[in-house]
Amino acid sequence: MKDIKRKTVADILAHGAELAGQEVDVKGWVRTRRGNKNVQFVALNDGSTINNLQIVFDLSKFSDEQLRPVTTGSSIHVQGLLVASQGKGQSVEVQADELQIYGTANPEEYPLQKKGHSLEFLRDKAHLRQRTNTFSAVLRIRHALAFAIHKFFNDKGFYYFHTPLITASDCEGAGAQFQVTTLDLNDVPRTEDGKVDYNNDFFGRQTSLTVSGQLEGELGATALGCIYTFGPTFRAENSNTPRHLSEFWMIEPEMAFYEIEDNMDLAEEFIKYCISYALEHCADDIAFLADHFDKELPERLRFVVENDFVRLPYTEGVRILEESGKKFEFPVYWGVDLASEHERFLVEEHFKKPVILTDYPKEIKAFYMKLNDDGKTVRAMDVLFPKIGEIIGGSQREENLDKLQARIDELGLTGMEWYLDTRRFGTVPHSGFGLGFERLVLFVTGMQNIRDVIPFPRFPKNCEF
Ligand code: 4AD
Ligand code: MG
Repeated sequence: MKDIKRKTVADILAHGAELAGQEVDVKGWVRTRRGNKNVQFVALNDGSTINNLQIVFDLSKFSDEQLRPVTTGSSIHVQGLLVASQGKGQSVEVQADELQIYGTANPEEYPLQKKGHSLEFLRDKAHLRQRTNTFSAVLRIRHALAFAIHKFFNDKGFYYFHTPLITASDCEGAGAQFQVTTLDLNDVPRTEDGKVDYNNDFFGRQTSLTVSGQLEGELGATALGCIYTFGPTFRAENSNTPRHLSEFWMIEPEMAFYEIEDNMDLAEEFIKYCISYALEHCADDIAFLADHFDKELPERLRFVVENDFVRLPYTEGVRILEESGKKFEFPVYWGVDLASEHERFLVEEHFKKPVILTDYPKEIKAFYMKLNDDGKTVRAMDVLFPKIGEIIGGSQREENLDKLQARIDELGLTGMEWYLDTRRFGTVPHSGFGLGFERLVLFVTGMQNIRDVIPFPRFPKNCEF
């Protein structure tokens, strides 16, 4: 091998015209190999782009024996002249001079042989599926969205605030928490009345994985002004749906001095920014996914960016559903927690636009939401999206100590003293929301199942890889 600096496939393809006529050094995995007895064509991919680089092996230079290990999935190092390509489908190609094999992938054993494996098949091969075009595209978009999120908040002067993953409180009050314990489950210590004695547990109390960083986020916002969290959250709900994961990532901005309208404005601007960023920076990957799965994807993304979201009180939403005459699987009446089919009716059939639904009945929302003057509804806001349903949940927070304390007592919550200090000392109106990161990735990629937009999905009865 000569001493030539390696270039990525993305680099070579982006600068093909300038580089043509030069020798290049490239490394990657073989996607496919085809050809005849004079020449063999290899499609090489190194993860830097959805596009492959064509490597041409002249069989007067390379023997069958040398090329035998060059099969789908094997990893190789090639040097050769970059030339304008004669064939269709690529502008440049490499005429191989030198070949080094890093690792073979026995075709009898390597599971990703043919194109067009089903997404179900690939879910069982989640440790390898990143190597397919589809999943590499999804994961590059996922990366771009994560980067866009940090950029959006950083540019606005928000601080990235790290909240704990192990917690002793239950933010959403849904009770869907995973316990964290070092107790020997075969020999659990008991108190005199027969209950588990958590005094002997690692933290000296009962703890779980967090369902949300919000409560700690509020402590951050009442000190730093505007913060956001971006981390994993865990929910032990037994929801086997294409929109639920047991481990998912959430972004939770929390802003002092923001009222509900400011909160809605921020949520709308934020989501549009992320989608625009992906449209601009992930054009090839989005085009690939549109071609293979969902022709309307680019159109749908642009539509969301270009149109105002509808803002509608829950009570109005319920009235529209009741008057729609549509037969829903689950009943609709004032006070019900809307099901996905109801949310999607409003968004996809009635308004044909994203909807921000506000002012929900207090009974179906978390304890911390600010009570409206009617005494019945709270200043909640859910952002509902086509194909997804709820993508964001948020609210203005109850900043009045007495009202919040009353609600906490009513619900019988305990251990909230540290949280209530935000209201005891220098309380301010404040608001925030949580965006489910995978639901955003789901929307932007047009994939159908949330398990296909995170590298290693966690869901009930499944924790492999
Ligand atoms: O509506 P949720 O439960 O709100 C909260 O956790 C608040 N503490 C947020 C806040 O105000 N700071 O969850 C927020 C979002 C949902 O809108 C949804 O997008 C996503 O998190 N989400 C899930 N995503 C994947 N799998 C699950 N099991 C999810 N549960 C919620
Ligand atoms: Mg919610």
